[in-house]
Amino acid sequence: MKTQVADLTFELSIPYAAIEKRISEIATEITSDYSGRIPVMVGILNGSFLFVADLVKQIEIPVEVTFAKLASYYGGTSTTRKIRDDFDLTIDIKGRDIILVEDIVDTGNTIHYLIEKLYTREPASIAVCTLLLKPQALERTVPELKYTGFEIPNDFVVGYGLDYKELGRNLKGIFKKV
Ligand code: IMP
Repeated sequence: MKTQVADLTFELSIPYAAIEKRISEIATEITSDYSGRIPVMVGILNGSFLFVADLVKQIEIPVEVTFAKLASYYGGTSTTRKIRDDFDLTIDIKGRDIILVEDIVDTGNTIHYLIEKLYTREPASIAVCTLLLKPQALERTVPELKYTGFEIPNDFVVGYGLDYKELGRNLKGIFKKV
């Protein structure tokens, strides 16, 4: 199945049914790993909004849900290495178990930056949950990366929250550039 997003053509890579199935497996893991605790799920905007929504619905322990905005892409198809620092998290996370929820970890620079920043606020723990991971693009190790939906090759992808030029976020599955 092919689809056009702005000036690029994409083809279906991960159908929504597979995403749903994987999310329910991750939710089961989180439910068991954080049993007896109340983690704070922090979705990184904009890309994670659908993932967070589907994930928290399947988690069977109490969780807090909030969002932080931070982006490293500026409408292109490759990382700029510049992270826009409009990160904002108003709640007090001191002593809390944090689960950062990302749409995709590419070079790992964004998540690394965020993790460093959050450690200064003295949380009890930080874990990262990402729907997609591009292992070949990773430029640093991220020990906090505990939950990964799918490992994908170095393709540029859109859909299920991820965008190209702010478009394609509403596509139901993950689509890769042809
Ligand atoms: P990193 O800092 O290189 O790990 O990039 C992470 C951010 O880049 C993600 O949160 C996305 O916003 C964006 N990104 C990386 N790869 C893709 C992609 O294939 N499609 C859309 N956005 C991407």
